[in-house]
Amino acid sequence: MRLPPFSQFCSRTRIISGEHALERLPGLLSSMSVKNPLLLTDKGLEAAGLLRLVIDHIEKGKLPAPLIFTDIPPDSDLQTVNEIAHLYREKGCDSIIALGGGSVIDTAKAVNIVVSCAEPDAQVLDLRDFSGADVITQRLLPLIVLPTTAGTGSEATIVAVIKDHENNRKMLFTSNFLQPTATILDPDLTLTLPPFLTAAVGMDALTHAIEAYTCLGKNPLSDGMSLQAIRMIIDNLEYSVAHPEDRSSRLALAIGANLAGQAFSNSMVGIIHTVGHTVGSICGVHHGLCMSILLPYGLEYNLHKIEKELKELSLYLCGEQKEAIGTIAAIRSLNDRLKKATAGRHVTRLHDVLDRDKRSAVRPDHLPIIAVEALGDGSHFYNPEQIDYDDILYLLNAAYWGYPLDRELIQKGHE
Ligand SMILES: [Fe+2]
Repeated sequence: MRLPPFSQFCSRTRIISGEHALERLPGLLSSMSVKNPLLLTDKGLEAAGLLRLVIDHIEKGKLPAPLIFTDIPPDSDLQTVNEIAHLYREKGCDSIIALGGGSVIDTAKAVNIVVSCAEPDAQVLDLRDFSGADVITQRLLPLIVLPTTAGTGSEATIVAVIKDHENNRKMLFTSNFLQPTATILDPDLTLTLPPFLTAAVGMDALTHAIEAYTCLGKNPLSDGMSLQAIRMIIDNLEYSVAHPEDRSSRLALAIGANLAGQAFSNSMVGIIHTVGHTVGSICGVHHGLCMSILLPYGLEYNLHKIEKELKELSLYLCGEQKEAIGTIAAIRSLNDRLKKATAGRHVTRLHDVLDRDKRSAVRPDHLPIIAVEALGDGSHFYNPEQIDYDDILYLLNAAYWGYPLDRELIQKGHE
Protein backbone atom coordinates (compact mmCIF):
# COMPACT_ATOMS: atom_id res chain seq x y z
CA MET A 1 0.00 0.00 0.00
CA ARG A 2 1.27 3.48 -0.94
CA LEU A 3 1.26 5.43 2.34
CA PRO A 4 1.18 9.23 2.17
CA PRO A 5 4.03 11.10 3.90
CA PHE A 6 1.37 13.02 5.82
CA SER A 7 -2.39 12.79 6.21
CA GLN A 8 -5.09 13.79 8.63
CA PHE A 9 -8.64 12.59 8.98
CA CYS A 10 -11.45 14.54 10.59
CA SER A 11 -15.01 13.33 10.95
CA ARG A 12 -16.89 15.05 13.74
CA THR A 13 -20.52 14.50 12.70
CA ARG A 14 -22.76 12.26 14.81
CA ILE A 15 -24.48 9.88 12.36
CA ILE A 16 -27.84 8.34 13.22
CA SER A 17 -29.09 5.90 10.60
CA GLY A 18 -31.76 3.29 10.12
CA GLU A 19 -35.35 2.76 9.06
CA HIS A 20 -37.47 5.24 11.06
CA ALA A 21 -34.32 6.95 12.36
CA LEU A 22 -36.22 10.26 12.08
CA GLU A 23 -38.02 9.27 15.28
CA ARG A 24 -34.74 10.15 17.00
CA LEU A 25 -34.92 13.80 15.90
CA PRO A 26 -36.78 15.20 18.95
CA GLY A 27 -34.43 13.38 21.34
CA LEU A 28 -31.45 14.67 19.37
CA LEU A 29 -32.70 18.26 19.56
CA SER A 30 -33.37 17.93 23.30
CA SER A 31 -29.92 16.44 23.91
CA MET A 32 -28.42 19.55 22.34
CA SER A 33 -30.58 21.83 24.50
CA VAL A 34 -31.89 23.36 21.30
CA LYS A 35 -34.95 25.58 21.90
CA ASN A 36 -35.57 27.57 18.71
CA PRO A 37 -34.29 25.91 15.54
CA LEU A 38 -34.62 27.33 12.03
CA LEU A 39 -35.64 24.63 9.55
CA LEU A 40 -34.37 25.16 5.99
CA THR A 41 -35.74 23.31 2.98
CA ASP A 42 -37.10 23.94 -0.54
CA LYS A 43 -40.54 24.11 -2.16
CA GLY A 44 -40.12 20.77 -3.94
CA LEU A 45 -39.52 18.89 -0.70
CA GLU A 46 -42.41 20.70 0.93
CA ALA A 47 -44.66 19.59 -1.97
CA ALA A 48 -43.34 16.03 -1.70
CA GLY A 49 -44.56 15.90 1.93
CA LEU A 50 -41.09 15.59 3.48
CA LEU A 51 -41.35 18.85 5.41
CA ARG A 52 -44.64 17.61 6.94
CA LEU A 53 -42.99 14.32 7.86
CA VAL A 54 -40.24 16.11 9.78
CA ILE A 55 -42.66 18.51 11.52
CA ASP A 56 -44.83 15.53 12.56
CA HIS A 57 -41.83 13.91 14.22
CA ILE A 58 -40.91 17.11 16.04
CA GLU A 59 -44.49 17.56 17.26
CA LYS A 60 -44.70 13.91 18.35
CA GLY A 61 -41.69 14.63 20.55
CA LYS A 62 -43.71 17.45 22.18
CA LEU A 63 -41.26 20.10 20.98
CA PRO A 64 -42.46 23.45 19.60
CA ALA A 65 -42.70 23.72 15.78
CA PRO A 66 -39.53 25.28 14.34
CA LEU A 67 -39.36 28.45 12.27
CA ILE A 68 -39.46 27.37 8.60
CA PHE A 69 -37.80 28.83 5.48
CA THR A 70 -38.60 27.11 2.15
CA ASP A 71 -37.29 29.56 -0.48
CA ILE A 72 -33.93 27.96 -1.19
CA PRO A 73 -33.06 27.91 -4.92
CA PRO A 74 -31.50 24.87 -6.69
CA ASP A 75 -28.08 26.60 -6.63
CA SER A 76 -27.32 28.01 -3.18
CA ASP A 77 -26.57 31.73 -3.49
CA LEU A 78 -25.13 34.54 -1.44
CA GLN A 79 -28.29 36.63 -1.34
CA THR A 80 -30.35 33.75 0.06
CA VAL A 81 -27.70 33.00 2.68
CA ASN A 82 -27.56 36.60 3.89
CA GLU A 83 -31.38 36.83 3.90
CA ILE A 84 -31.69 33.68 6.04
CA ALA A 85 -28.93 34.87 8.37
CA HIS A 86 -30.91 38.06 9.01
CA LEU A 87 -34.04 36.02 9.70
CA TYR A 88 -32.12 33.75 12.09
CA ARG A 89 -30.86 36.72 14.08
CA GLU A 90 -34.18 38.58 14.04
CA LYS A 91 -36.09 35.57 15.40
CA GLY A 92 -33.44 34.63 17.98
CA CYS A 93 -32.85 31.14 16.61
CA ASP A 94 -30.26 28.94 18.26
CA SER A 95 -29.68 26.16 15.70
CA ILE A 96 -30.37 25.03 12.12
CA ILE A 97 -32.07 21.94 10.71
CA ALA A 98 -31.34 21.39 6.99
CA LEU A 99 -33.78 19.15 5.11
CA GLY A 100 -32.66 18.65 1.52
CA GLY A 101 -29.93 17.85 -0.97
CA GLY A 102 -26.64 19.61 -1.68
CA SER A 103 -28.06 23.10 -2.20
CA VAL A 104 -30.07 23.21 1.04
CA ILE A 105 -27.21 21.67 3.04
CA ASP A 106 -24.60 24.07 1.62
CA THR A 107 -26.95 27.01 2.25
CA ALA A 108 -27.39 25.85 5.86
CA LYS A 109 -23.62 25.52 6.34
CA ALA A 110 -23.09 29.02 4.94
CA VAL A 111 -25.83 30.54 7.12
CA ASN A 112 -24.22 28.85 10.09
CA ILE A 113 -20.89 30.52 9.24
CA VAL A 114 -22.46 33.97 9.23
CA VAL A 115 -24.57 33.58 12.39
CA SER A 116 -21.76 31.88 14.31
CA CYS A 117 -18.79 34.00 13.23
CA ALA A 118 -20.11 37.54 12.68
CA GLU A 119 -19.97 39.90 15.63
CA PRO A 120 -23.35 39.93 17.44
CA ASP A 121 -23.83 43.67 16.87
CA ALA A 122 -22.64 43.64 13.23
CA GLN A 123 -24.97 45.69 11.04
CA VAL A 124 -23.89 44.00 7.82
CA LEU A 125 -23.74 40.23 7.83
CA ASP A 126 -21.77 39.13 4.82
CA LEU A 127 -20.71 35.61 3.97
CA ARG A 128 -17.98 36.85 1.60
CA ASP A 129 -15.80 37.74 4.59
CA PHE A 130 -15.41 34.03 5.36
CA SER A 131 -14.69 32.44 1.95
CA GLY A 132 -11.57 30.36 1.39
CA ALA A 133 -9.78 27.55 3.17
CA ASP A 134 -9.67 27.42 6.96
CA VAL A 135 -10.83 31.03 7.43
CA ILE A 136 -13.34 29.67 9.95
CA THR A 137 -11.46 28.87 13.12
CA GLN A 138 -14.21 28.44 15.69
CA ARG A 139 -16.89 25.91 16.54
CA LEU A 140 -20.19 26.78 14.85
CA LEU A 141 -23.75 26.61 16.22
CA PRO A 142 -25.64 23.28 16.12
CA LEU A 143 -26.52 22.11 12.60
CA ILE A 144 -28.60 18.98 12.08
CA VAL A 145 -28.76 17.66 8.51
CA LEU A 146 -31.52 15.46 7.11
CA PRO A 147 -30.31 14.48 3.59
CA THR A 148 -32.99 13.78 0.97
CA THR A 149 -30.64 12.47 -1.72
CA ALA A 150 -28.05 9.72 -1.35
CA GLY A 151 -25.25 11.34 -3.31
CA THR A 152 -23.52 14.59 -2.44
CA GLY A 153 -22.30 13.45 0.97
CA SER A 154 -22.46 17.12 1.96
CA GLU A 155 -23.84 16.08 5.35
CA ALA A 156 -20.37 14.65 6.05
CA THR A 157 -17.97 17.05 4.36
CA ILE A 158 -15.88 20.05 5.35
CA VAL A 159 -16.98 21.91 2.21
CA ALA A 160 -19.71 24.37 1.16
CA VAL A 161 -20.11 26.00 -2.27
CA ILE A 162 -22.18 29.19 -2.66
CA LYS A 163 -22.85 31.16 -5.87
CA ASP A 164 -22.09 34.88 -5.85
CA HIS A 165 -24.27 36.12 -8.74
CA GLU A 166 -23.07 39.72 -8.40
CA ASN A 167 -19.49 38.71 -9.21
CA ASN A 168 -20.46 35.63 -11.27
CA ARG A 169 -18.34 33.20 -9.27
CA LYS A 170 -18.72 30.24 -6.98
CA MET A 171 -17.33 30.77 -3.52
CA LEU A 172 -15.72 27.80 -1.82
CA PHE A 173 -15.58 27.38 1.95
CA THR A 174 -13.53 24.63 3.56
CA SER A 175 -13.04 24.05 7.27
CA ASN A 176 -13.29 21.12 9.65
CA PHE A 177 -15.83 23.24 11.53
CA LEU A 178 -18.22 22.97 8.56
CA GLN A 179 -18.98 19.34 9.30
CA PRO A 180 -22.51 19.32 10.71
CA THR A 181 -23.15 18.49 14.36
CA ALA A 182 -25.39 15.54 13.49
CA THR A 183 -27.09 13.88 10.56
CA ILE A 184 -30.01 11.48 10.35
CA LEU A 185 -30.02 8.97 7.46
CA ASP A 186 -33.58 7.65 7.14
CA PRO A 187 -34.76 5.93 3.93
CA ASP A 188 -38.15 7.69 4.29
CA LEU A 189 -36.32 10.87 3.24
CA THR A 190 -35.11 9.46 -0.10
CA LEU A 191 -38.10 7.29 -1.10
CA THR A 192 -39.59 10.01 -3.32
CA LEU A 193 -36.40 10.49 -5.36
CA PRO A 194 -37.25 9.40 -8.95
CA PRO A 195 -35.20 6.60 -10.59
CA PHE A 196 -33.32 8.94 -12.93
CA LEU A 197 -32.11 11.12 -10.02
CA THR A 198 -31.43 8.07 -7.85
CA ALA A 199 -29.09 6.81 -10.58
CA ALA A 200 -27.38 10.18 -11.06
CA VAL A 201 -26.76 10.97 -7.38
CA GLY A 202 -25.70 7.37 -6.74
CA MET A 203 -23.07 7.69 -9.47
CA ASP A 204 -21.91 10.96 -7.88
CA ALA A 205 -21.38 9.08 -4.61
CA LEU A 206 -19.57 6.28 -6.45
CA THR A 207 -17.33 8.87 -8.10
CA HIS A 208 -16.51 10.40 -4.70
CA ALA A 209 -15.47 6.99 -3.40
CA ILE A 210 -13.40 6.05 -6.48
CA GLU A 211 -11.67 9.43 -6.78
CA ALA A 212 -10.95 9.36 -3.02
CA TYR A 213 -9.36 5.91 -3.47
CA THR A 214 -7.22 6.92 -6.45
CA CYS A 215 -6.25 10.58 -5.91
CA LEU A 216 -3.04 11.91 -4.36
CA GLY A 217 -4.69 12.63 -1.00
CA LYS A 218 -5.64 8.99 -0.44
CA ASN A 219 -4.84 7.59 3.00
CA PRO A 220 -5.63 4.37 4.89
CA LEU A 221 -8.61 5.86 6.73
CA SER A 222 -10.30 7.32 3.66
CA ASP A 223 -9.46 4.10 1.73
CA GLY A 224 -11.45 2.05 4.25
CA MET A 225 -14.45 4.31 3.88
CA SER A 226 -14.16 4.36 0.08
CA LEU A 227 -14.14 0.56 -0.19
CA GLN A 228 -17.19 0.13 2.03
CA ALA A 229 -18.97 2.94 0.18
CA ILE A 230 -18.26 1.31 -3.21
CA ARG A 231 -19.50 -2.05 -1.94
CA MET A 232 -22.76 -0.57 -0.63
CA ILE A 233 -23.43 1.55 -3.72
CA ILE A 234 -22.67 -1.23 -6.22
CA ASP A 235 -24.81 -3.72 -4.27
CA ASN A 236 -27.83 -1.40 -4.06
CA LEU A 237 -27.91 1.25 -6.78
CA GLU A 238 -29.53 -0.73 -9.60
CA TYR A 239 -31.99 -2.39 -7.23
CA SER A 240 -33.02 0.99 -5.83
CA VAL A 241 -33.52 2.42 -9.34
CA ALA A 242 -35.72 -0.56 -10.24
CA HIS A 243 -37.52 -0.65 -6.85
CA PRO A 244 -37.65 2.96 -5.60
CA GLU A 245 -39.92 1.99 -2.69
CA ASP A 246 -37.42 -0.46 -1.18
CA ARG A 247 -36.31 1.01 2.15
CA SER A 248 -33.42 -1.36 2.70
CA SER A 249 -31.56 -0.43 -0.51
CA ARG A 250 -32.41 3.27 0.01
CA LEU A 251 -30.83 3.11 3.47
CA ALA A 252 -27.74 1.31 2.15
CA LEU A 253 -27.29 3.99 -0.52
CA ALA A 254 -27.67 6.78 2.06
CA ILE A 255 -24.98 5.20 4.23
CA GLY A 256 -22.76 4.51 1.20
CA ALA A 257 -23.04 8.14 0.08
CA ASN A 258 -22.21 9.31 3.60
CA LEU A 259 -19.12 7.08 3.74
CA ALA A 260 -18.04 8.35 0.32
CA GLY A 261 -18.55 11.92 1.56
CA GLN A 262 -16.34 11.29 4.59
CA ALA A 263 -13.73 9.64 2.36
CA PHE A 264 -13.38 12.46 -0.18
CA SER A 265 -13.67 15.14 2.47
CA ASN A 266 -10.42 13.74 3.86
CA SER A 267 -8.58 12.82 0.67
CA MET A 268 -10.08 15.11 -1.99
CA VAL A 269 -11.10 14.31 -5.57
CA GLY A 270 -9.45 14.69 -8.98
CA ILE A 271 -9.93 15.24 -12.70
CA ILE A 272 -13.51 13.92 -12.86
CA HIS A 273 -14.71 16.60 -10.45
CA THR A 274 -12.33 19.19 -11.94
CA VAL A 275 -14.00 18.86 -15.33
CA GLY A 276 -17.46 18.03 -13.98
CA HIS A 277 -17.74 21.18 -11.84
CA THR A 278 -17.07 23.28 -14.93
CA VAL A 279 -19.40 21.37 -17.28
CA GLY A 280 -22.06 21.87 -14.61
CA SER A 281 -21.52 25.60 -14.17
CA ILE A 282 -21.18 26.44 -17.90
CA CYS A 283 -23.79 24.09 -19.39
CA GLY A 284 -26.12 23.52 -16.42
CA VAL A 285 -25.69 19.74 -16.51
CA HIS A 286 -26.83 17.92 -13.34
CA HIS A 287 -23.73 17.20 -11.23
CA GLY A 288 -24.52 13.49 -10.76
CA LEU A 289 -25.15 12.92 -14.47
CA CYS A 290 -21.91 14.75 -15.26
CA MET A 291 -20.03 12.47 -12.87
CA SER A 292 -21.49 9.28 -14.33
CA ILE A 293 -20.55 10.34 -17.88
CA LEU A 294 -17.04 11.51 -16.99
CA LEU A 295 -16.10 8.75 -14.52
CA PRO A 296 -14.82 6.14 -17.05
CA TYR A 297 -12.97 8.81 -19.07
CA GLY A 298 -11.27 10.32 -16.00
CA LEU A 299 -10.11 6.86 -14.91
CA GLU A 300 -8.81 6.12 -18.43
CA TYR A 301 -6.89 9.37 -18.33
CA ASN A 302 -5.24 8.40 -15.03
CA LEU A 303 -4.95 4.68 -15.87
CA HIS A 304 -1.14 4.47 -16.12
CA LYS A 305 -0.86 6.04 -12.63
CA ILE A 306 -3.60 4.07 -10.83
CA GLU A 307 -3.42 0.55 -12.28
CA LYS A 308 -2.86 -1.03 -8.88
CA GLU A 309 -5.79 0.78 -7.26
CA LEU A 310 -8.17 0.02 -10.14
CA LYS A 311 -7.14 -3.62 -10.02
CA GLU A 312 -8.01 -3.66 -6.31
CA LEU A 313 -11.37 -2.04 -7.04
CA SER A 314 -12.20 -4.72 -9.63
CA LEU A 315 -13.09 -7.02 -6.73
CA TYR A 316 -15.92 -4.66 -5.83
CA LEU A 317 -16.98 -3.52 -9.29
CA CYS A 318 -16.56 -6.77 -11.25
CA GLY A 319 -17.11 -9.28 -8.43
CA GLU A 320 -13.70 -10.87 -9.14
CA GLN A 321 -10.07 -9.84 -9.54
CA LYS A 322 -9.48 -8.35 -12.99
CA GLU A 323 -7.05 -6.01 -14.71
CA ALA A 324 -7.53 -2.25 -14.22
CA ILE A 325 -9.33 -1.86 -17.53
CA GLY A 326 -11.88 -4.39 -16.28
CA THR A 327 -12.95 -1.90 -13.59
CA ILE A 328 -13.44 0.83 -16.18
CA ALA A 329 -15.40 -1.56 -18.41
CA ALA A 330 -17.61 -2.47 -15.41
CA ILE A 331 -18.43 1.21 -14.85
CA ARG A 332 -19.34 1.63 -18.53
CA SER A 333 -21.60 -1.38 -18.41
CA LEU A 334 -23.21 -0.13 -15.15
CA ASN A 335 -23.96 3.17 -16.90
CA ASP A 336 -25.47 1.28 -19.86
CA ARG A 337 -27.74 -0.70 -17.54
CA LEU A 338 -28.80 2.46 -15.70
CA LYS A 339 -29.59 4.04 -19.06
CA LYS A 340 -31.87 1.15 -19.89
CA ALA A 341 -33.47 1.19 -16.43
CA THR A 342 -34.28 4.92 -16.71
CA ALA A 343 -35.78 4.73 -20.23
CA GLY A 344 -32.72 6.43 -21.75
CA ARG A 345 -32.53 9.42 -19.38
CA HIS A 346 -29.23 8.30 -17.81
CA VAL A 347 -27.24 9.21 -20.92
CA THR A 348 -23.62 8.15 -21.30
CA ARG A 349 -22.21 10.88 -23.60
CA LEU A 350 -22.11 14.67 -23.10
CA HIS A 351 -23.50 14.95 -26.64
CA ASP A 352 -26.79 13.39 -25.48
CA VAL A 353 -27.48 15.60 -22.44
CA LEU A 354 -30.59 17.69 -23.03
CA ASP A 355 -31.66 20.93 -21.36
CA ARG A 356 -35.22 21.72 -20.22
CA ASP A 357 -36.22 22.66 -23.79
CA LYS A 358 -34.95 19.29 -25.06
CA ARG A 359 -32.01 20.91 -26.84
CA SER A 360 -28.37 19.82 -26.46
CA ALA A 361 -27.09 21.22 -23.17
CA VAL A 362 -23.44 20.81 -24.21
CA ARG A 363 -22.29 21.97 -27.67
CA PRO A 364 -18.89 21.35 -29.31
CA ASP A 365 -18.08 25.07 -29.03
CA HIS A 366 -18.52 24.83 -25.24
CA LEU A 367 -15.63 22.36 -24.94
CA PRO A 368 -12.66 24.76 -25.31
CA ILE A 369 -14.33 27.20 -22.89
CA ILE A 370 -14.83 24.41 -20.34
CA ALA A 371 -11.19 23.32 -20.77
CA VAL A 372 -9.93 26.84 -19.93
CA GLU A 373 -12.25 27.31 -16.95
CA ALA A 374 -11.59 23.84 -15.51
CA LEU A 375 -7.93 24.69 -14.99
CA GLY A 376 -9.07 27.13 -12.30
CA ASP A 377 -10.75 24.36 -10.28
CA GLY A 378 -8.61 23.47 -7.26
CA SER A 379 -9.43 19.75 -7.26
CA HIS A 380 -6.96 19.06 -10.10
CA PHE A 381 -4.08 19.49 -7.65
CA TYR A 382 -4.98 16.08 -6.19
CA ASN A 383 -5.21 14.26 -9.52
CA PRO A 384 -2.54 11.53 -9.90
CA GLU A 385 -1.54 12.79 -13.37
CA GLN A 386 -0.86 16.41 -14.29
CA ILE A 387 -3.49 18.18 -16.34
CA ASP A 388 -3.27 20.93 -18.93
CA TYR A 389 -5.66 22.54 -21.41
CA ASP A 390 -5.00 19.99 -24.20
CA ASP A 391 -5.54 17.06 -21.84
CA ILE A 392 -8.91 18.37 -20.67
CA LEU A 393 -10.01 19.12 -24.23
CA TYR A 394 -9.01 15.61 -25.30
CA LEU A 395 -10.98 14.09 -22.41
CA LEU A 396 -14.00 16.32 -23.11
CA ASN A 397 -14.07 15.39 -26.79
CA ALA A 398 -13.91 11.70 -25.91
CA ALA A 399 -16.76 12.05 -23.36
CA TYR A 400 -18.74 14.17 -25.82
CA TRP A 401 -18.62 11.71 -28.72
CA GLY A 402 -18.25 8.55 -26.65
CA TYR A 403 -14.88 7.15 -27.77
CA PRO A 404 -12.32 5.72 -25.32
CA LEU A 405 -9.09 7.58 -24.56
CA ASP A 406 -5.81 6.35 -26.03
CA ARG A 407 -3.78 5.23 -23.04
CA GLU A 408 -0.43 5.31 -24.85
CA LEU A 409 -1.02 8.80 -26.16
CA ILE A 410 -1.69 10.11 -22.63
CA GLN A 411 1.30 8.29 -21.17
CA LYS A 412 3.64 9.57 -23.90
CA GLY A 413 2.35 13.10 -23.46
CA HIS A 414 3.53 13.08 -19.85
CA GLU A 415 6.94 11.45 -20.28
FE1 LIG B 1 -19.58 15.14 -6.54
